[in-house]
Amino acid sequence: MDLKGKDVISIKDFSRSDIDELMAKTDSMEALAKTGSDMLHGKLMGTLFYEPSTRTRLSFESAMMRLGGRALGFAETKMASVEKGENLADTVRTVENYTDILVIRHPLEGAARLAADFASIPVINAGSGAQEHPTQALLDLYTIRRELGSIDGATIALAGDLRYGRTVHSLAYALSLYKVKLYLVSPDLLRMRPEIVVDIRDRIPVAEASDMETLLPKLDVLYMTRIQKERFGDPAEYEKVKGSYQLAANHLRSVKENMIVMHPLPRVDEISFEIDETKHAKYFKQMWYGLLTRMALLASVLGD
Ligand code: NCD
Repeated sequence: MDLKGKDVISIKDFSRSDIDELMAKTDSMEALAKTGSDMLHGKLMGTLFYEPSTRTRLSFESAMMRLGGRALGFAETKMASVEKGENLADTVRTVENYTDILVIRHPLEGAARLAADFASIPVINAGSGAQEHPTQALLDLYTIRRELGSIDGATIALAGDLRYGRTVHSLAYALSLYKVKLYLVSPDLLRMRPEIVVDIRDRIPVAEASDMETLLPKLDVLYMTRIQKERFGDPAEYEKVKGSYQLAANHLRSVKENMIVMHPLPRVDEISFEIDETKHAKYFKQMWYGLLTRMALLASVLGD
């Protein structure tokens, strides 16, 4: 797929060959990330963040700057009580005058699509409520490919908040384009949305489970997630499931030699600090791969 001038809103718009092509381009970004480049000289990126972010926003900004472009925007931690649609549309119609591409994160599902409908410049979805986080899925796939050598053949567990976690929604779709076996590990209350399970089951074997420990010896990838406290309607429900899965060093005794532990971050209490120093921990490397992935995306959408 030629991404030039295109929006990146949903991982569902990508085929396997689109992703493979993008990953090949991502490989070529590593040298440029180190030396810098003027590939996107003169281009401006606008970041509209209506939700907190550390990695996504800063890695997009860094990616743009390492390619010679520049970035401006806002990173509000609180969203004013704006009406869905109207103010977002006006903001988009404003910032598109100043920039060549918009990167948007918003608490409402569908917000990135809406922004793209209003914008005449490309829009990248950096997280749309609990719905999707396509660029995270791309960097997660890239991490698996780099660390395991290939995605095909892997047995992968997504564990934690599969209901409100947007990264696992996009990642489940993306993984279903490969020959993987997927375990969805969550408390009952936080199971993956049925419409996603139904969709991906058409393509790959999927098993739902609530016990993580018994699965560990089978896994090539364990993808942990944070319970998304801020997305619960009822705080009492959060209390029931908080701390559901906590990976401790002793759990690693039973795992495969090359099993990798991933996490989109931020972590709260899902992965004990002792694991950070083990060869299994890949969540810090994931951030470097995220930078490269976002460089590849910006280069594809904005480059010549
Ligand atoms: C995630 C997000 O914002 O969805 N963070 C990220 O972009 N790496 C995960 C989370 O907040 O738990």
